[in-house]
Amino acid sequence: MDMQLTGKSAIVTGASRGIGRCIAIDLAARGASVIVNYNSSEAAAQDVVNAICAAGGQASAVRGDVSKMDDASAVVKAAIDTYGKLDILVNNAGTTRDTLLMTMKEEDWDHVIATDLKSVFTCSKAAIRPMIRQRSGRIINITSVVGLAGQAGQSNYAAAKAGIIGFTKSLAREVGSRSITVNAVAPGFIPTALTDVLTAEQKESATKMTPLGRFGKPEEIAYAVSFLASDLAAFITGVVLSVDGGLVMH
Ligand SMILES: NC(=O)c1ccc[n+]([C@@H]2O[C@H](COP(=O)([O-])OP(=O)(O)OC[C@H]3O[C@@H](n4cnc5c(N)ncnc54)[C@H](OP(=O)(O)O)[C@@H]3O)[C@@H](O)[C@H]2O)c1
Repeated sequence: MDMQLTGKSAIVTGASRGIGRCIAIDLAARGASVIVNYNSSEAAAQDVVNAICAAGGQASAVRGDVSKMDDASAVVKAAIDTYGKLDILVNNAGTTRDTLLMTMKEEDWDHVIATDLKSVFTCSKAAIRPMIRQRSGRIINITSVVGLAGQAGQSNYAAAKAGIIGFTKSLAREVGSRSITVNAVAPGFIPTALTDVLTAEQKESATKMTPLGRFGKPEEIAYAVSFLASDLAAFITGVVLSVDGGLVMH
């Protein structure tokens, strides 16, 4: 047994760039057929599909704002219509609107909670019936070290990411009897559009706080996701796997 995913069908939300892009490419390289979900970056999502197909894999891009139930249902339906089933759901789509609570607008709170937390509910809810019917499935939610440790200026994001952890453990308890596993991966600092906004000083301080002394690579998150998606991880559920260079040892 190894980390091959031949014959599996997967959805990666927010896969047009960054960590989601790498997750989609790694799942496909291991044999999974992948729905590359995006909201607005159509060309970038198509580029991910092209890269997967050029390497001999199978993928298609599907637009959908996963903070909306109807869109999430349509993305899951696209996976089942295209590939006949859904084995792996990676809830990766996320965003930030950082500011101190004193200056945080209600819409900053609502947007981040909807994009980062409600999307995990909508996609998991849409996916759970087909997974229960087939009595197997893998749900992998991308949380953050910030959901474990908190971060000044990110109360909305930290609340969403901590919420994902509670959701993961609860759903893992609900569906374990159907051989469906539900886990979370908590990345540390990874260079993507999301962390591009950090100042040079913030990046240096993040590196200093990380025992391994560097930012992670998006591929290093993808490897953890592929492991949890594989048969090797069949007895792992309800965990939060930190991939953070030792930043938060929870
Ligand atoms: N980078 C880090 O250091 C870090 C650390 C910890 C956790 N994470 C988490 O890792 C995940 C990926 O982050 P990233 O750094 O790769 O961010 P990113 O480069 O900004 O990518 C975010 C992705 O999410 C998509 N997206 C945003 N809103 C969406 C929506 N409503 N519906 C569907 N797709 C949506 C974007 O696609 P469109 O442009 O098409 O909207 C994009 O593909 C996030 O959950 C993030 O919180 C990142």
